[in-house]
Amino acid sequence: MKIALLAGDGIGSEIVAQAERVLRFFIEEGQKIEIEPGLLGGCAVDACGEPFPPATQQLAADADALLLGAVGGPRYDLLPREKRPEQGLLSIRKALNLFANFRPVMLFPELANASTLKAEVVSGLDILIVRELTGDIYFGQPRGIEIREGQRFGFNTMIYSESEIARIAHVAFQAARRRNGRLCSIDKMNVLECTQLWRDVVIETAEIYPDVTLSHMLVDNAAMQLVRDPKQFDVMVTGNIFGDILSDEASMLTGSIGMLPSASLDENNKGLYEPIHGSAPDIADKNIANPLATILSVAMMMRYSFSEEQLAVRIERAVRQVLAEGYRTADIFETGMRKVSTTEMGDAVLSYL
Ligand code: NAI
Ligand code: MG
Repeated sequence: MKIALLAGDGIGSEIVAQAERVLRFFIEEGQKIEIEPGLLGGCAVDACGEPFPPATQQLAADADALLLGAVGGPRYDLLPREKRPEQGLLSIRKALNLFANFRPVMLFPELANASTLKAEVVSGLDILIVRELTGDIYFGQPRGIEIREGQRFGFNTMIYSESEIARIAHVAFQAARRRNGRLCSIDKMNVLECTQLWRDVVIETAEIYPDVTLSHMLVDNAAMQLVRDPKQFDVMVTGNIFGDILSDEASMLTGSIGMLPSASLDENNKGLYEPIHGSAPDIADKNIANPLATILSVAMMMRYSFSEEQLAVRIERAVRQVLAEGYRTADIFETGMRKVSTTEMGDAVLSYL
């Protein structure tokens, strides 16, 4: 397992260090894991003047899987768009063709009170959002800001080919098959032609998955249903922009941005794994960030890129144990629990492993 570690910016190096300890523990047990560090985001801008430098491009191409902390920070806000850390993230997704983004949204029973929603609405929540990641309005041409007839116009292009829709639909149907056999596709076909095609192609793809129950929902209704009754969903599939918004919304149902991992995969299950949160500059270098989302991202890596289900389950069990024993970083702290730092949380996970 050749794994690239891209710590990135802000809390990135602190949380990735704890995840690296999990990998090193597996190496001690005899797993064949090679770890290579690299620069992505603001740290790469500082070192080389660009967010996704050639050395990182080579590292990314050679790796079987990549673990990312997070990129960005206020120091870089004034840079031109193509030099910004976030551009590094868009570029690496595009360069590696990581079109399939998996975001499991689950509420750990131990954190039942962390959500801002009523416990009965979210308890037992376990859904999977599958978001298309390399197309849609984020990449479509033409785009820009232009002066026409004396005033500025801003424009972007929402565009998907049928093959792009079909390949993410296949991924989602297969994920639904591995879970409870239910898939809900989200679009805005009543208004947008691009998403009319989305719905048509998802329906065509469904023909070879007769065992999966397919439903459709308009995105505005889906946004509402996610907070009204999120447990009605099992697997959701949607395009890049709707998925961006709905997955952030859904993540907050669990109340803890520091807990949720993600995977972005290509056609061969090579993947980039990262916590869903950002670089949290407000708490960087204080040893208080929650490393569990990053550690759980390693579990997803073991499962999706390396088919090491046993290793994935061991990581997930260790995290559950640590929560059950009352270890809490500041973001998930409740009175009566044991407040721990980033490194102490790493210690606890390692000791249960
Ligand atoms: P953020 O996710 O970094 O932080 C939001 C809030 O959650 C902050 O109060 C932060 O302290 C807290 N938080 C986040 N992760 C945490 C953790 N592991 N433990 C405890 N608390 C945690 O989002 P924000 O502040 O909007 O963005 C900060 C920077 O991160 C920006 O430059 C943004 O562009 C970048 N960003 C990068 C992402 C990535 O690399 N994938 C994703 C989202 C934002
Ligand atoms: Mg987002």
